[in-house]
Amino acid sequence: MENMKLRRSRLPAMLLTILFWELSFQVSIAAAASASPQVAAMFVFGDSLSDNGNNNYLNSLAKANYDPYGIDFPQGSASGRFSNGNTIIDYLGDFLGLPLLPAYANPDATGSGLLQGVNYASASAGILEETGRNLGERISFRQQVENFASNLEQLKNEMKAEQLAEYLKKSLTVVIMGSNDYINNYLLTSFYATSYIYPPTTYTDLLIQQYTKRILALYSLGLRKFLIAGIGPLGCIPNQLANNFAPPGKCASLANDLAVMFNTQLRSIVNQLNTNYTDAIFVYGNTYGAVSDIITNSRNYGFTVTDSGCCGIGRNQGEITCLPFSAPCVNRDQHVFWDAFHPTQAANRILAEKAYNGPPSDCYPMNVKQMAEL
Ligand SMILES: *[C@@H]1O[C@H](CO)[C@@H](O)[C@H](O)[C@H]1NC(C)=O
Repeated sequence: MENMKLRRSRLPAMLLTILFWELSFQVSIAAAASASPQVAAMFVFGDSLSDNGNNNYLNSLAKANYDPYGIDFPQGSASGRFSNGNTIIDYLGDFLGLPLLPAYANPDATGSGLLQGVNYASASAGILEETGRNLGERISFRQQVENFASNLEQLKNEMKAEQLAEYLKKSLTVVIMGSNDYINNYLLTSFYATSYIYPPTTYTDLLIQQYTKRILALYSLGLRKFLIAGIGPLGCIPNQLANNFAPPGKCASLANDLAVMFNTQLRSIVNQLNTNYTDAIFVYGNTYGAVSDIITNSRNYGFTVTDSGCCGIGRNQGEITCLPFSAPCVNRDQHVFWDAFHPTQAANRILAEKAYNGPPSDCYPMNVKQMAEL
């Protein structure tokens, strides 16, 4: 009886406490969203890991603007994100206090609509012009840089020259490129001759040379803060596990070896850039290490499935990627991979956190938060 009375009398107080807690939680979220962003803007160059709708406007097989893509995203599949929800870029922008960026191809991305940044990423695109042509139209890294240059002309109408220079210095540039130069080029031997022409080291040299050229073009246009992400363990994505009949617990070694080769050279370029261009900062994002950590220590992150897609068909649910109206898994937050190629938003969130706040083993020589503060 005593107990019952106690419970009954405490209930309203508890409800009030919960209500108050929820209210203050909502207030703090609103405050975080309206607090001034930590960077002036964010400009994103990349592939389907970052694309937020550019390929919707292209004649391409690499599209994600159909169900069940975006099943956990407020705008649903219409946005064209290659995930069940947010991309790494969405989360990174959120941590930085930015709103969702417009896709370059979106009609809203003009005039003052460009001020907080633009996403130029295009699914199936790569460092090389030809990369991804097996899937149709795409916007190569070179063209993405040109698109930024044309937006810059518009930004000159929005502010004075000195203001623009300051704005660009305080903006963050994110580049996540290179996966398709392997997955949709070098390793796709039925479609591309590159692996017959170039040994792996020569091909990697070619990629890194082109990559460096594009980064320097962005630097010449005035950008000064760069997050340059390496490529992930490509041999561990469901598509490569399925294609290579990888035994349980193993990844496809060739794809992983190529990724390591690319990353080693990219990291060395980032070091050189920091030495040669002291008025800019170049941060190397260790995507390979971060994804490997998530797969190896999956339980610590709440994942139970690391070797097959949540949506897809065949071996590792990765032989055929997520088709229109196919039924995805229910436990999406327990899957590292959403489809044959792309992480779930649960994994994207962890990757973005590591880039934003991680130790030097994730983000070198500093993380994005530290770079934003400089
Ligand atoms: C940095 O400068 C060195 C010495 O001039 C040069 O050899 C190297 O190619 C430069 N690297 C980059 C990425 O600019």
